[in-house]
Amino acid sequence: MQSLQNKNIVLGISGGIAAYKGPELVRRLKEQGADVRVVLTDSAKEFVTPLSLQAVSANPVSDNLLDPQAELAMGHIELAKWADLVLIAPATANTIAKLAHGMADDLLTTIALATPAPIAIAPAMNQQMWHNSFTQENLNKLAQHGVIQLGPASGEQACGDIGLGRMLDVPELVEQVGGLSTDEILSGQHWVITAGPTREAIDPVRYISNHSSGKMGYAIAQAAQKAGAKVTLVSGPTNLAPPSQCDIVNVSSAADMHQQALSLATTATVFVACAAVADYRVAQVAEQKIKKHEDAMQINLVKNPDIVADVAALKAQRPFSVGFAAETQDVEHYARGKLAKKNLDLIAANDVAVSGQGFNSSDNALTVYSADQSIDIPLASKTQVAATLVNIIAEKLKS
Ligand code: PMT
Repeated sequence: MQSLQNKNIVLGISGGIAAYKGPELVRRLKEQGADVRVVLTDSAKEFVTPLSLQAVSANPVSDNLLDPQAELAMGHIELAKWADLVLIAPATANTIAKLAHGMADDLLTTIALATPAPIAIAPAMNQQMWHNSFTQENLNKLAQHGVIQLGPASGEQACGDIGLGRMLDVPELVEQVGGLSTDEILSGQHWVITAGPTREAIDPVRYISNHSSGKMGYAIAQAAQKAGAKVTLVSGPTNLAPPSQCDIVNVSSAADMHQQALSLATTATVFVACAAVADYRVAQVAEQKIKKHEDAMQINLVKNPDIVADVAALKAQRPFSVGFAAETQDVEHYARGKLAKKNLDLIAANDVAVSGQGFNSSDNALTVYSADQSIDIPLASKTQVAATLVNIIAEKLKS
């Protein structure tokens, strides 16, 4: 059976001597059933021609971010969305450095930043460059962001040196890419995700709620599902269509969400609490609509149970527990406080005072904290941010 059947692969080729293996790599990926679109950096064109890659891939080759003709055929964002996997082979030290710093100064790095798909790199460089601490730091950073590293191999290099830094041989590389089964890195896992706001009734017609649209939580559900997990989304009231192939449990109040989430949590591999849960509910919900008598009125509130803290406190069958922190100031301080207090494995913090991100926007930026680490996910669409977050959680699960 073909290991890459129906997979869309954007093959990024950067400018190292191993770029000459590009046509062979395309042929082997296609043999495994993949549809391959090649993106070349400027320096890669010194080693391999667009024409030969176009011939073997049977697709146009893209090499320029600012090419109106190419953008008409398939724009760079479309290409980024089309990909099930972005494979960068060879990945030079320079390209690795650019990726690690979130740069987007050419077509390949722009696609890497814009794609919700997993990214795999096959490093290729001189052994001294490989061992250089800058390169190693960049690779560590990429790994923390969920970028998959394939190789390098050790052996004689084009420059005559011997050591680590050769790109994996094409058959080995294609086998490893096939083994990634890009959309199934979470296969066999059950993810339970809370999303959206809760509504705390005051009387039969009024409630207390917040600005959560559910977009962030739904995007995480979709990304986890795409990565092969069985997903159950416990959702407060939203206007969003349920993500395809996810089980959805609709709830209204924090108490409903607590009950549903806790009963699902013991079957979960990962629990992600993205919902904006009301911290308090009305002590006594009026049975009838409250009439307007006085100039002022008081409502007594009592604390709701903390869903994610109760999940993380499970003694048996505790899932890997990921919380969110929506903050308007001292983001790191408050996020780390919640990480510790709620006994979470990770917390994803967003600064909801910044316009264009957080509540109800299409984009977000997060910093993911663990006890000893922090990883920034820069501002991008919630779809992209969710894909990166899911990769980060998947990497943490492995360690
Ligand atoms: O829905 P969107 O419009 O896309 O917006 C996304 C978002 C801003 C809502 C999302 O990114 C986010 O930050 N979600 C968490 C919001 C929140 O309630 O944060 P918090 O700092 O108040 O709560 C900390 C954590 O405890 C959260 O994981 C929350 O789900 C959880 N919690 C809070 C209270 C409670 N009673 N039970 C909980 O589980």
